[in-house]
Amino acid sequence: MINRDTIDNIVTTARIEEVIGDYVNLRRRGVNMLGLCPFHNEKTPSFTVSPAKGIYKCFGCGKAGNSVNFIMEHEHFSYPEALKYLARKYNIEVEEEEQTPEQLLELNEKESLYNLSLYAQQFFTKTLLETAEGKSVGLSYFKERGMRDDLIHKFQLGFSPDKWDAFSENAVQNGYKKEFLVKTGLSIEKDNRLIDRFHSRVIFPIHSASGRVIGFGGRILGSDKNRPKYVNSPESDIYNKSKTLYGIYFAKNAIISKDSCLLVEGYTDVISMHQAGIENVVASSGTSLTHDQVRMIQRYTSNISILYDGDPAGIKASFRGIDMIVEQGMNVKIVLFPDGEDPDSYARKHHPTEVESFVNENAVNFILFKTRLLLGETQNDPIKKTALIREIVNTIALIPDSISRSVYVKECSALMAISEQVLMNELNKILRAKLKKSSPDADKDLEVVPAEQMPTEPQVDIDLYSSEYQERDIIRLLLLYGHDIITIPGNTAEEEGVPVQVADYVVVDLVRDDLTFENSTFRSIFEEYKTNARNDIIPDGDVFLNHGDKDIQSVAVNLVFTNYTLSPNWLKNNIMITTEKTRLDMHVMFALRAYKARTLDQRMAEVLKRLKSATDPVEQNAIQKEFTEMKNESVRINKNGLGRVITR
Ligand code: UTP
Ligand code: MN
Repeated sequence: MINRDTIDNIVTTARIEEVIGDYVNLRRRGVNMLGLCPFHNEKTPSFTVSPAKGIYKCFGCGKAGNSVNFIMEHEHFSYPEALKYLARKYNIEVEEEEQTPEQLLELNEKESLYNLSLYAQQFFTKTLLETAEGKSVGLSYFKERGMRDDLIHKFQLGFSPDKWDAFSENAVQNGYKKEFLVKTGLSIEKDNRLIDRFHSRVIFPIHSASGRVIGFGGRILGSDKNRPKYVNSPESDIYNKSKTLYGIYFAKNAIISKDSCLLVEGYTDVISMHQAGIENVVASSGTSLTHDQVRMIQRYTSNISILYDGDPAGIKASFRGIDMIVEQGMNVKIVLFPDGEDPDSYARKHHPTEVESFVNENAVNFILFKTRLLLGETQNDPIKKTALIREIVNTIALIPDSISRSVYVKECSALMAISEQVLMNELNKILRAKLKKSSPDADKDLEVVPAEQMPTEPQVDIDLYSSEYQERDIIRLLLLYGHDIITIPGNTAEEEGVPVQVADYVVVDLVRDDLTFENSTFRSIFEEYKTNARNDIIPDGDVFLNHGDKDIQSVAVNLVFTNYTLSPNWLKNNIMITTEKTRLDMHVMFALRAYKARTLDQRMAEVLKRLKSATDPVEQNAIQKEFTEMKNESVRINKNGLGRVITR
């Protein structure tokens, strides 16, 4: 548990524009900053950041929150992970609360798996660096491969001894449960005994994007044909292979700053590239990228270069997988290494600058690469060429962006010596078929590629008389203007007005009439104002922007941004939010009046219902009277807006 002071410190220190600026290019727009939303695809920026308030909101997809929310959403971090990330960024020491033995027991299972994985990594690293066996066997293996100390350190490499249960025994002795040893796959249970999965192997810990150890790869020393070269951790609650990329934690920053990600095959490729000073590199661990892995890279860049060793035939086998990456809107390039070389061996034989320029100079756009490769196989066979055109156009059709599509049509038509028009026709055929498939009613005559959907501000049609809307508006005024002073007009024209703070006025007015809110989140916010009012305190509206209750926080963030979503309805109703502050008194009163009128309407409806079912004439009479009073009140409210609501 991170203690409250630390959380507050983190939240107040983190500058939202800096936190988000690491991921999104923000430009100033008035008091706010604007950029392309990282949570959905858009061409026109609708992602708004308020440095003053420390919050963001996307008007395209609706995502909103503060710095912590952003990091949680963007990195798929848990709340404590996000806090720790920010603490690291701002060099804030994280103070965790001491845990009692009971609390330790309660640590959830996932946390136990993380703890054990960390312990295992430390055990393996210590064994590698500090034991005689580790040094003479493991470390000398790494050294033989030319691995530098700083990289061994950085990647937390390790060694698991040549004893069947060295680690399992040690872990059990140190209080780690058998259950978790088996669940993480560090141990394998056999005849009621625990055996080390990784025994007698050098260890490559696998880190999550936030830098926690979640699994391991273990390589045999040398080349024993009878043992698999690598064994890897099985999937567990903390290790999902299809959502993990080896090296992502160490590559994140470089991927962002280079705006490009290099994809290699293996553990050693990643480390050797780092050793050559190239850090924007991750490994898929020998398989083709999954949808989730692409999404993970996409958080940082839309440019990916896939580094291949070996022959073109092998690459051909992965074309389908790459199509999927193209379909996700990534710019894919292929880098082919010389025969017999992989990034690891190449990096070890060449100077770092040579490695970098090799990658840069040999990166070929995937679609052009594919075209060239297949073209080489058609050998002017017209049937094969037709199949090729179809194949290439199919890939081009996957590109979500229409401008990129037309660029490729141009390039490929030149490469294949086919007119652009032919390719374009073929492309439109496919696109139309797709469109029909996704929406069967689509216009049959559609000749052109549909224009990219422009993100539009959601035009929420506000029902001014829904109680939800009215409740929200009062809360909004409290949050934005709670401390501001308005003047309540006197009862007659001669009588002087009384200055009051908005929050005081609203609380007193609603409490007096015993009114509260239907929406539970609004009610909780209002309750906080009420409680504080008893001590003459008006909470700062910004407090709710970082509120511990995430419903309250989310409501607050969205309300503060409401000011930027002027719907035409507002203008029609003569309520100019932009000048709201200058006529604040009017707005506050209008909001209260509208809310009361609405509540009164509801109560009148209830009374009417009672009247209908009443049988006793005395009772009928009483209810009738009650109703008339309400009716009069309602008329009064609607006339001057300042009336009291009789609630009982
Ligand atoms: P490679 O065979 O290219 O291994 O497999 P490598 O990383 O280059 O290792 P060195 O250079 O021979 O030491 C690429 C990746 O495929 C996975 C590993 O993730 C490896 O890094 N792999 C390979 C396995 O999981 N198991 C295996 O038996 C082999
Ligand atoms: Mn290798």
